Amino acid sequence: MAEDRPLNHDEMLSVLDWYRAAGVDLAVGEEPVDRFAQRPPARVTLPNVPGPAGVVDRPAEPLLLGGDPSEARSLAASAQSLVELERLLGAYDGCGLKLRATQLVFADGNPEAEIMLIGEAPGAEEDRQGKPFVGKSGQLLDRMLGAIGLDRTKVYIANTVPWRPPGNRTPTPEEMALCLPFLHRQVELVAPKLVMTLGGPAMQTVFSTSNGIIKMRGKWSDVSFGNHEVAAIATLHPAYLLRNPAAKQQAWRDMLSLKLRASELGLL
Ligand code: URA
Repeated sequence: MAEDRPLNHDEMLSVLDWYRAAGVDLAVGEEPVDRFAQRPPARVTLPNVPGPAGVVDRPAEPLLLGGDPSEARSLAASAQSLVELERLLGAYDGCGLKLRATQLVFADGNPEAEIMLIGEAPGAEEDRQGKPFVGKSGQLLDRMLGAIGLDRTKVYIANTVPWRPPGNRTPTPEEMALCLPFLHRQVELVAPKLVMTLGGPAMQTVFSTSNGIIKMRGKWSDVSFGNHEVAAIATLHPAYLLRNPAAKQQAWRDMLSLKLRASELGLL
């Protein structure tokens, strides 16, 4: 039977170890919050609409908001500026990732930049700070950019999903599909001349392919984001490079290719 006494120091450490082993890596509050109880999905009721003969031809049905890509598409399309898009995305409850994240991680860098980088999803540090690529992989990304004469004043950075997936797992195809209209509108509003994706999931989402990153990286192709067509290239994710330093030479080739294209366009 459990004793009713405060834990001693060693017991507290072993509880923390147990949490860590279970994948808990972030304390977000003193008290547990049951987010399922907290935020039931919003429901709206469609009005009865009289048909041409004055007959109500559509029964009033509850409509479940959220989880619907067409809702995400029309919401994203309505944004006329990046500020508005960020506000709409912050208020959007359709993607379940939001429930477990600390905050929205919308973008970093220069919204007027001609070069845009697209990563996969925020990690723990990004979730804490509300900015993409501010953890260890972000530091490597900064060095990669610096090596070709770029920094965050000359690029704009976003992710395929703007909320941290629990435990840093890869976002599911459904989560990505729900967030994709917002990313497309974000690219359209920034209107960069060049896009670079970072890692396999971002490459597959942006290039709409199931091919692997090793096959696809380093090749330029034109990609449409709404009405904006832009030359895009995929490279390896900095987090992958941290785990596999030998792959840095491939990423370096991709960075040189970005530098060459940027110079040809007079961006560097
Ligand atoms: N990895 C990503 O793909 N995006 C971030 O913002 C941070 C790490």
